[in-house]
Amino acid sequence: MAPIELRQGIYWVGVVDWDIRDFHGLSTNAGSSYNSYLIVSDKIALVDAADPGGGASVLLRHIAEIVDPARIDYVISNHSEPDHSGALSEVMKVATGATLLASKDGVKRLGQMYHHDWNFREVGDGDELSLGKYSLTFFNAPLLHWPETMFTYCPEAKTLFSCDAFGSHIASTELFVDEVGTDRVLPHLRKYYAFLIASFRKAALAAMDKIKDLEIEMIGPSHGPVWRRDIDLLFDHYRSWANLEVKDKATIVYGTMWGATQTMVGAVADGLKAGGLESRAWNVKKTDASDIISDLLDSRLILMASPTFVSGIYPPVEAFIPYLRIPRDKTKKLAVFGSFGWSGGATRKLTEILRAEGYEVMDDALQQRFFPGEDEIRECYEFGRGAAEWAKGKESGSA
Ligand code: FEO
Repeated sequence: MAPIELRQGIYWVGVVDWDIRDFHGLSTNAGSSYNSYLIVSDKIALVDAADPGGGASVLLRHIAEIVDPARIDYVISNHSEPDHSGALSEVMKVATGATLLASKDGVKRLGQMYHHDWNFREVGDGDELSLGKYSLTFFNAPLLHWPETMFTYCPEAKTLFSCDAFGSHIASTELFVDEVGTDRVLPHLRKYYAFLIASFRKAALAAMDKIKDLEIEMIGPSHGPVWRRDIDLLFDHYRSWANLEVKDKATIVYGTMWGATQTMVGAVADGLKAGGLESRAWNVKKTDASDIISDLLDSRLILMASPTFVSGIYPPVEAFIPYLRIPRDKTKKLAVFGSFGWSGGATRKLTEILRAEGYEVMDDALQQRFFPGEDEIRECYEFGRGAAEWAKGKESGSA
């Protein structure tokens, strides 16, 4: 994508990555982008650099289509993670007179990461930088998504450069969310939030509170499309997720060896529906964990289902447990079921582990021997219905 002017004199000059499929553990099946913004005023500022994987040459080429990169006066580092700073060395090599602005912690981290004696300037909450026609104000946004992260706001353009917050991993030839399609962007926004921001939901709420009085007509995140419409919708989604709002929905996370637990899943899902919860079921062997986490966000109930494997939990299901920690949401209720051949053990161990993690787990996990027959299918259905009612607070209970 060639540079695009967002506002008069303010340009997207970033890098689209069609190829990336794994962003430090988050599956990125639609690619991503590393958004950098060039603000050409009396002075020239660049907000964020690109990733280290060949992004520098593209970034510099994009800048050169607008101004000579040597003329850059200020480079703003909102975040020092390599997908934002990887091209800094190349940029600073060309922009020899530039001052590099970052938060106090950002300056420290960039020093630790790149070991250059750049002309740093620390900026803090509310600090302003005049560029002439435009100015920039900085807001610390710690943990969104590293401790040193900050937002940069241009009041004259009513534009917020929000770094990782409000981003999504999508590569596209269109820059704006309304061009890419809001309905297409929202699932990616949610997945990105679930994997990168949900762990720091209180920080997200604090950051939104900090910027609530700013006039914002455009949000340029560091990844994915730019928001120039529906900003209230964007904030509503973030607030809803950060406030742990749930729907009448359950997510079943399961593994299966010979299909017995999978058969149970279908009958349990029917029972959940009868109890008032819609559900989605995900086989951990066939679905990326980051997609499952995304579905957990607004679920009232999580069901973990595992066959017994060597007297314990089927390893692919056990391997999912650490991912449950990512949203740091212990308000959800959990229930456990699964099949076994001769000894059993998976449901008991799952219950023990999940309770030790701090989750409220329904009593009386359901375990069934070998393949379910008619009676067992009925039992699964009743288990699902009971779990739904328990999660909705209608009854105490077990199934
Ligand atoms: Fe876009 Fe925290 O990296």
